[in-house]
Amino acid sequence: MATKEPPLFRDIDRVLIDREAIAARVRAMGAEVAADLQRAIDRHHDPADAQVVLIPILTGALVFTADLIRQMPMMLCLRVVAVSSYPGRSMASKGAKIAGELPQDLAGKHVVIVDDILDTGQTLAVVKRLIQEQGPASVRICVLLRKPESCRKERIDADYSGFDIPDEFVVGYGLDYDGFYRNYPQIAVLRAAATSALESRA
Ligand code: PRP
Repeated sequence: MATKEPPLFRDIDRVLIDREAIAARVRAMGAEVAADLQRAIDRHHDPADAQVVLIPILTGALVFTADLIRQMPMMLCLRVVAVSSYPGRSMASKGAKIAGELPQDLAGKHVVIVDDILDTGQTLAVVKRLIQEQGPASVRICVLLRKPESCRKERIDADYSGFDIPDEFVVGYGLDYDGFYRNYPQIAVLRAAATSALESRA
């Protein structure tokens, strides 16, 4: 008897970035970010005083962050922040809202904000501004995906970006539609039928 393909896979229209390409790029990004941070640490009067804090923006950055930090052979801390811009089935940003607390002890530290995607830039602009108000030693932005500059509503860019992608709604590797597909292991575009099926279940 033929087994039915699970919806997670059936709903995918096409893969934009496959798992091998993601893994290779994340490996290179981890090495690059770590090397830059190490150079910054070495400039401290006493490098042992320097602290590195990675701040993943929940929830989308979870998968990317988990892979990225394992490519960074150095002392670092993780502090998360939750921001929501695309609640539920929204495919257009509703404006970034911080949910809960931002870490409050970032003065003098080397901070790397990690996110899955830079789109309108509203999320990263809000988070970066609030972090900078605390007087960190440095702030870097690291994203896996970057949409074209024409999508931006804020003047902001990433210091590290894995892939430039077209202005399409993508899921997988942490990115969701209505909370689903984050566990799809590649960056992909959904079939239109999948989004309308989820709409009709609401
Ligand atoms: C998504 C994504 C980024 C942000 C990028 O988060 O994870 O954080 O939007 O969009 P922007 O550049 O237009 O602000 P979302 O609000 O969907 O929450 P999630 O991380 O929980 O999926």
